[in-house]
Amino acid sequence: MSTTVTLALTGASGMPYGIRLLECLLAAGVTVDLVYSAAAQIVARQECDLTLPTQPREAARLLAERYGAAAGRLIVHAREDWLAPMASGSNPGDGMAICPCTMGTLGAIAGGLADNLIERAADVMLKERKPLVLVPRETPLSAIHLENMLKLARAGAVILPPAPGFYTRPRTIDDVVDFVVARVLDHLGVPHALVPRWGDARETPMTRRA
Ligand SMILES: Cc1cc2nc3c(=O)[nH]c(=O)nc-3n(C[C@H](O)[C@H](O)[C@H](O)COP(=O)(O)O)c2cc1C
Repeated sequence: MSTTVTLALTGASGMPYGIRLLECLLAAGVTVDLVYSAAAQIVARQECDLTLPTQPREAARLLAERYGAAAGRLIVHAREDWLAPMASGSNPGDGMAICPCTMGTLGAIAGGLADNLIERAADVMLKERKPLVLVPRETPLSAIHLENMLKLARAGAVILPPAPGFYTRPRTIDDVVDFVVARVLDHLGVPHALVPRWGDARETPMTRRA
């Protein structure tokens, strides 16, 4: 049985992380339930020159073609699709990432609003004790942001800010993006070889360049 992960894109800066995560999940053979906000559509255009269609079926066709997803591996849901499996604790899948995650969505999840499919699926992950990885992006952080993150961490979410390490000596933006995406995949339990692991003696393109 294949792994199923919900990926939500919201309208924070950092869309290259979310798109790369989608690409890596599909390459790993994971079944992805994708949902994105209206603000995410704006940021995707701004940061990635990527149009995320409003119609889920059109989005699934376009993204599956672009990222070479096998048939049935990528399902795109509208934000109000209450019939989507992850809207219910009876069918949550194996985990969820919100990448990038706005302070607005983070606050709504911390408040238990469950007012759209992104917030509801996150709520379901927490109550069902499934991995929920949030990649929040804002700077600086207010006390409200920090309190919401603490609340969610205490409820079981993984707060994974896009804060790349530089000990791997990244040379390109792609290297930096991969550093963050690798940590998200780790927390979702999806195998990858995106960046060398600390203490791993194997030579990789990144260590060779150092
Ligand atoms: C280009 C762009 C960049 C943005 N960057 C951030 C950001 O880094 N963090 C954040 O919390 N909101 C950011 N916003 C604002 C959110 O998109 C806005 O609060 C929106 O209502 C969030 O809705 P959503 O959580 O449903 O995506 C940005 C908006 C735009 C257009």
